[in-house]
Amino acid sequence: MRTDQAQPVRLSEYRVANHSVTTVALDVALDPTATRVNARIDVVPHPQGVAGAPLVFDGDDLVLVSLSVDGVALPPEGFEATPERLTIFNPPARAFALEIETRINPEANTQLMGLYRSSGTFCTQCEAEGFRRITYFPDRPDVLAVYTTRIEADRALAPVLLGNGNLVETGDLEDNRHFAVWHDPHPKPSYLFALVGGDLAHVEDHFTTRSGREVVLRIYVEHGKEGRCAYAMDALKRSMRWDEEVFGCEYDLDIFMIVAVGDFNMGAMENKGLNIFNDKYVLALPDTATDQDFAQIEAIIAHEYFHNWTGNRITCRDWFQLCLKEGLTVFRDQEFTSDMRSRAVKRIADVRLLKSAQFSEDAGPLAHPVRPEIYKEINNFYTPTVYEKGAEVIRVLKVLIGAEAFKTGLDLYLKRHDGDAATVEDFIACFAEASGRDLTQFFLWYRQSGTPDVSVETHHDAVEGTFTLDIRQSLRPTPGQSMKEPMVIPLAIGLLGEDGVDRPLLTDDGQQVAGVVALNAERHRFTFSGHPTRPVLSINRGFSAPIRLKTDLRREDLAFLARHDSDAYNRWQAMQTLATQYLTDASEAVRSGGASPAPDILLEAMRAALAGSEQDPAFAAQVLTLPSEADIAREIGTNVDPSAIFAARRALRTALAQSLGDSLSGLIERLAPTSSYSPDAISAGRRALANVALDLLAAAGDAERLAAVARRFHAADNMTDRLAALAVLVQHQGSDREDALATFEERFRTDPLILDKWLALQAGIPEAGTLDRVRALMSRPGFHATNPNRLRSLVGSFASLNPTQFNRIDGQGYDFLAEVVIGLDTRNPQVAARLLGAFKSWRALEPARRAKAEAALKRVSETDGLSPDVRDIVDRSLA
Ligand code: TRP
Ligand code: ZN
Repeated sequence: MRTDQAQPVRLSEYRVANHSVTTVALDVALDPTATRVNARIDVVPHPQGVAGAPLVFDGDDLVLVSLSVDGVALPPEGFEATPERLTIFNPPARAFALEIETRINPEANTQLMGLYRSSGTFCTQCEAEGFRRITYFPDRPDVLAVYTTRIEADRALAPVLLGNGNLVETGDLEDNRHFAVWHDPHPKPSYLFALVGGDLAHVEDHFTTRSGREVVLRIYVEHGKEGRCAYAMDALKRSMRWDEEVFGCEYDLDIFMIVAVGDFNMGAMENKGLNIFNDKYVLALPDTATDQDFAQIEAIIAHEYFHNWTGNRITCRDWFQLCLKEGLTVFRDQEFTSDMRSRAVKRIADVRLLKSAQFSEDAGPLAHPVRPEIYKEINNFYTPTVYEKGAEVIRVLKVLIGAEAFKTGLDLYLKRHDGDAATVEDFIACFAEASGRDLTQFFLWYRQSGTPDVSVETHHDAVEGTFTLDIRQSLRPTPGQSMKEPMVIPLAIGLLGEDGVDRPLLTDDGQQVAGVVALNAERHRFTFSGHPTRPVLSINRGFSAPIRLKTDLRREDLAFLARHDSDAYNRWQAMQTLATQYLTDASEAVRSGGASPAPDILLEAMRAALAGSEQDPAFAAQVLTLPSEADIAREIGTNVDPSAIFAARRALRTALAQSLGDSLSGLIERLAPTSSYSPDAISAGRRALANVALDLLAAAGDAERLAAVARRFHAADNMTDRLAALAVLVQHQGSDREDALATFEERFRTDPLILDKWLALQAGIPEAGTLDRVRALMSRPGFHATNPNRLRSLVGSFASLNPTQFNRIDGQGYDFLAEVVIGLDTRNPQVAARLLGAFKSWRALEPARRAKAEAALKRVSETDGLSPDVRDIVDRSLA
């Protein structure tokens, strides 16, 4: 295994491969501990490569059995094979066929990269650099080849054999063995290769593309789980139709397969024609999955399917271009969900995620540009910055050049670069051409890391009837970038009159302007006329730019916007800002031993939101959800004291429970379901609102109300309501918590995916006993400490969703995470590194906790033989 000293890779050092590959014929004989891989690789010297250069292929943990060139075995002095590299010193200066035999051990593969076994099923994960764990290869995304895969296995061990592309042949062999041959006509990079072998059940459906291609759709799962695939299958068909209608993208093979596996490092993988999924994002029934699970399944099925064009047909030239496929595909899946569900609610959910996961990354030691220019371990760059900010940047582009030019540009990109391994420059050039605009400054969104700060000061002149905005932008230094240039920032705006209606936007010479002002310098002044009375400014509507915004809006203005803004996103944002401002002040007050009662204006704004909530329950559920502890911490920024934040937030929740109690109970009653469970967005919205109300209502810890929650828990006929009630109960000591937890465990004891929810809830309990509870859960016999889903649910939730307990003042939360990461690193470095990422905001803590966190990070750093993955995260965290 590779350890420690990885050399950095730089974008500026990109060179084409000296040898490219036209076709690959793999012959894989599956065996749990000794799988034989024969690869016949047709190699051609690259015309732009270095003539006469040695052939250098990547490997990782490989054992070479034999090697030949054009059918002739190479003499030992002609090559060198290490686990990491195959070098042929004097390869032919013409096209030739390389035959490589390697032996690999899937059973021993705990990294879950390359070929491994998950509950007995053989499966692969090749992105980003896993193919080199199967055979020696130029394992880089700009080497595109046509693959044929022959798989053979014992029929009893693996009756199902799957590969990329179309099935061309099957047959029986001696000794109860059999084989299948798959051919993928579309040239692809090695990271999109996949194969699966196992004893799996499947469900089947069909889709006819708009040009008449008949496509077989199959979802493969463990036997007995076939009944949980219907929602995923329906989401797949809707994704296929939507991509044709909205982006003009049609499917291009005769079969599309999804395989669900229980051990998976990430969410899912877009291998050509053979997506492999974490089973968490496939399996769902009302009794086993929450509304949120259904929504995530829909989004991830769509995401992986959409990669068929944005990622597979057009792939990345190198891994620096990762956002080219991921940012764009996230943008596409966000649009899909917006069309399937509520656009405003989706926008709010996406911005919440962006702020919690990405703004915090941007503000800490792991900040990097959407397109990084240097990395040591590419696995560590599958980040919220590349994915979520990568999608935001595309949204910024769309606002800047307008929907029409945006569509023309995207169509051009899909056409011009089909079959290419492209760069972000290639992508942006299409929009520059379509819009006739110079997008040089816009490109800074890809190059500069950090979240821009924008501050707005307003001035009203009643005599002149003018309203002036003075806007400044700045961008703080981030690792490796001390100097920053001003960005181009489009701000969607509106000016509300006293009646709450948008007034026309007139410049000082009386011209009407569209609702977007664009910043491109450090300072700007915009003056609007026709305002004898002071209007209320609504700015960054729809979150038109991913910035941190400061305005001089008063509390009254925010409450007014929360009620009247025609932009739904900003109605939500106004309430969040109002609550956040109060909660940051209140946290400071708690720290200095005082208290600050919730202002009436905030209670009244919440009351008003509650009163109108039944018109759009899903939206109202978002409005009534207070900013999280992490949101408040981010706003405070330095010397963060998680206990003070928790106390301030709990006090506000109690105040809301007391002042809104009757309205909340009335609402819960009115939202009671009248028909049986359906996961659709409208019904889900009603449940979301009822459960937010339930959570608030119980916040004061009132025994009678908690008993009602317990009754709701026992009576629930679906996982959403059951889990929501349980989540409320676990927050309160002495409630029926242990009883409810035991009931839940008993009922779902055989279903690890459901017990994950149970683990996560317990890891989130904001009490001093939680760390012991988490340790105890980890050492239970049924807990598979190597399964990424189990680890994320228990350890990941503890570290990232339980601020008071992870940040215990005695440092034990940090020590625990360090200990888990060190122990896991030798088995699964990728997941270990990801868990360690929970330290990303450690520098923002108050000094006592900061010192403890630093000590824990140092302990990790001083451990011998760290993987490159963990080494990279710990070094950057401490830098
Ligand atoms: N390309 C995958 C996705 O977004 C990401 C992914 C899945 C991945 N598994 C991985 C990345 C393992 C790195 C390692 O859709
Ligand atoms: Zn993706």
